[in-house]
Amino acid sequence: MKKIAVMTSGGDSPGMNAAIRSVVRTGLANGIEVFGIEQGYKGLIENRMRSLSSKDVSNMVYRGGTFLRSARCLEFKTEEGQKLAVSSLEKNGIDGLVVIGGDGSLTGAKILAENYGVKVIGLPGSIDNDIYGTNTSIGVDTALNNIVHAIDTINDTASSHDRTFIIEVMGRNCGYLAVMSAIAGGAETALIPEVPYHLESIIAKIKKRYEEGKTRSVIILAEGVGSAYDFGKTFELIGGFETRIIVLGHIQRGGSPTYFDRILATRMGDAAVRGLMNGKTSCMTALTGREIELMPLSEIIGRKKVFDAALLKMAEDLST
Ligand code: ADP
Ligand code: F6P
Repeated sequence: MKKIAVMTSGGDSPGMNAAIRSVVRTGLANGIEVFGIEQGYKGLIENRMRSLSSKDVSNMVYRGGTFLRSARCLEFKTEEGQKLAVSSLEKNGIDGLVVIGGDGSLTGAKILAENYGVKVIGLPGSIDNDIYGTNTSIGVDTALNNIVHAIDTINDTASSHDRTFIIEVMGRNCGYLAVMSAIAGGAETALIPEVPYHLESIIAKIKKRYEEGKTRSVIILAEGVGSAYDFGKTFELIGGFETRIIVLGHIQRGGSPTYFDRILATRMGDAAVRGLMNGKTSCMTALTGREIELMPLSEIIGRKKVFDAALLKMAEDLST
């Protein structure tokens, strides 16, 4: 392994820069030149890559986003696009590739490995925590901290006015961010795509809270359930509570990564380079327990992370 390349693809997540830095510096420390590909598969197809020095990744460990930039690229889903991508790797003499991204990006990595023989290792980078096989992905911890900070802030103003707030959080089809932030932020309930909700029970719960003298209520709604505005309108109409709605949006995905995400990203970047050096391919770095393992992409792609129903029950119990 003399030359490897690294890219970030799909939705960005805080800690991606720390992962790139780790790949670059671990590579350089082991005599490997590291190329940075711009804008994920799009940049790979268009052959936009450059050799990265140690200095290129200075001051990156604490920066959110990804300095290599990211993209979603439909062309890469076609055979034609994939062949162009492989040809760019060959033109630059790349022996191994590190793909940092979500489920879709890792599916692309698996195709490159299985259909074209490219040596590839993926890193799970997504705030959604929907990637099978790893306890958590790069960016989840930071996103949760962002959400909890927002809930704390909203709690202040909600209590002053005896209001109910509906806070919509990201997560695509996964309710993890909603449930965990509801627990950590002391919200009344989390509405998630994995479990149908019962409007009357939620209204009864909120009513009881106000009767007991509590001065605010917060409901976390995962975007996969639907629009917070639609839910909020019905909730206010039927429940009769003064309600405000907030969609947190991309604020969740930005900002300086937490200590946890920096360490996770750094360990995973290191494991990916060492994996490539040891001849591994078609794997993803996964956090299992406290260890980083290389798990075959064939065991990951197409599988759905099991939702832990006990967490939702805990959120409900804590807010009674
Ligand atoms: P994420 O990686 O965050 O899940 P996407 O699902 O948008 O984000 O995927 C990012 C990119 O990965 C896509 O734009 C595409 O280039 C590539 N990709 C996604 N799914 C596939 C697929 N089934 N086959 C090949 N490439 C894919
Ligand atoms: O997958 C990460 C994510 O932030 C999801 O939570 C969200 O549904 C989606 O990406 C938003 O995508 P975009 O940045 O393209 O609006």
